[in-house]
Amino acid sequence: MNKDGQKSLIAAALEVRRRAYARYSQFAVGAALLAADGQTFVGCNVENVSYGLTICAERSAVFAAVAAGQQRFELLAIASAGGVTPCGACRQVLSEFAPDLPILLVDADRPREVREANLRDLLPGAFASFKPAQRQKRRT
Ligand code: THU
Repeated sequence: MNKDGQKSLIAAALEVRRRAYARYSQFAVGAALLAADGQTFVGCNVENVSYGLTICAERSAVFAAVAAGQQRFELLAIASAGGVTPCGACRQVLSEFAPDLPILLVDADRPREVREANLRDLLPGAFASFKPAQRQKRRT
C-alpha cells in the first residue's frame, strides 16, 4: 500500500467519524476498510439508549463491505480521539476475514501521527474454528 493510498483511507476514516452517533459516550470513531478490489467501505459507531445495542465503527465497516460482496481486506484505518485500538469484539469479527490485517490507528487530533498495528498481534489465539458436536440419536 503506497502512502497516497494510506492517506486517502485515513481521510475517509476521519470524515466518517464526523457522522458517528455517540450521544452517550461522546466518543466518536470512524473506520475505513480497503477491500481487495480497491473499494473503500466506511463505518462509524452508532450508539443506542439501550447501551448494549451500540455498534462499533469497525464492525459497521466490515458489515457494509460484506453486504456489498467484499470479503477480502487489505488495510483498515480507525480514527478516534487518541487513536485507540479496536475492541475485542471487533478484533474477532475482523479476524474472520483478515487475520493478518494491517491497521492504521489515527489520532483525530493529530492525524499525521499514525500508529501501525497488525490484527495478528492484537488478537493472539483467535477463535478460528470448531468441531461441531455430534447429534445425539433420539431414542424411540
Ligand atoms: N467504539 C468503536 O466504535 N470502536 C472502537 O474501537 C472502540 C469503541 C465505540 C463504541 C462506543 O460507541 C464508544 O466507542 C465508546 O466505547
